[in-house]
Amino acid sequence: ARARRERRERLHSLLDRAAAYYARYLWESNEAARARDYLAARGLNESTLRTFRVGYAPSAWDKMLLGSRQAGFSEDELLATGLAQRSRQRRGSLYDRFRERIMFPLADSRGRVVGFGARAMRDNQPPKYLNTSEGEVFHKGSQLFGIDIARRPASRAGSIVLAEGYTDVLALHQAGIENAVGVMGTSLTDEQARELERTARTLVLALDADGAGQEAMVRASRIAAGRRLELRVVSLPQGMDPADLIQRDGAEAVRERVGRSVPFVSFHVDKVLASADLGDAEGKDRALAELRPVIAPVPPSVLREELIARIAARLGLSDQLAATLLEQQAAPAA
Ligand code: UTP
Ligand code: MN
Ligand code: MN
Ligand code: MN
Ligand code: MN
Repeated sequence: ARARRERRERLHSLLDRAAAYYARYLWESNEAARARDYLAARGLNESTLRTFRVGYAPSAWDKMLLGSRQAGFSEDELLATGLAQRSRQRRGSLYDRFRERIMFPLADSRGRVVGFGARAMRDNQPPKYLNTSEGEVFHKGSQLFGIDIARRPASRAGSIVLAEGYTDVLALHQAGIENAVGVMGTSLTDEQARELERTARTLVLALDADGAGQEAMVRASRIAAGRRLELRVVSLPQGMDPADLIQRDGAEAVRERVGRSVPFVSFHVDKVLASADLGDAEGKDRALAELRPVIAPVPPSVLREELIARIAARLGLSDQLAATLLEQQAAPAA
């Protein structure tokens, strides 16, 4: 057990060392001038970038490797942290996994680095983001980007804002929304939900306003259903994410939208109505069938009445008829 703990400590210190190295490289090297310009053009200032320890990985194949070896780390440790890979062609030799990329350190809730998300600078260097692979210290399913920085503000506020991406979290933080974390993609896992539940009661979803992001909100609600999390949704302009909105309309625009978040059920009703074909009676009946389980868990309340009134208006029914039809049990399957 003690040997295990010592090994973990060494892997963490290697990862911390790597984050510090990449950060210094971003701020001090000539090679990273392009990356500094890119980040500035995205509206991210130096203080935000330093808070999140953002860095840059040089284009060389062995700079990280050689520096880490010199600092006393072994090949095995470099492989275990995912910083290096073993080449297939030249048997035995290692090379740096992250090259010519902007480095976003991923930390645990105590701020210890466990991995990296690494953004390509150009569209012709896919993938857009290369992340540390699953391994001894990095577990994507339980990771939340920025949790170390957002934890205190989130527990103070009683709410935590969940975005998809690294740049969303940075831009939100810079806009004064310091209780923001990133899910790093679109699917919220149960492990992440458990961590969120430990931090705050209200989870405010600010996922991308595109098809993938909207579907992800519905999936997230199923994950959150098993937990004591009150779910709200931030509406963003079509096709945008929080970072896009902040860059286009400024910090106040996003603060205002986060302030106007709606209960998840309200978002869900609108989503069903938006995609329903309400051209004829059968279409309306299908929409009602889809809406019934959405409305069912909402207790008698002003919110419930408002949702029913909204559905009634869209379907061209009286509020009373809509309420009756929504409360009816589906016919048992024959
Ligand atoms: P998005 O495709 O929405 O990217 O993916 P983004 O965060 O808006 O990226 P920018 O603004 O162009 O820099 C959301 C998140 O999904 C993960 C990353 O965590 C990303 O921030 N992702 C995306 C990957 O891990 N790999 C990918 O190739 C793409
Ligand atoms: Mn582990
Ligand atoms: Mn997206
Ligand atoms: Mn995005
Ligand atoms: Mn983006």
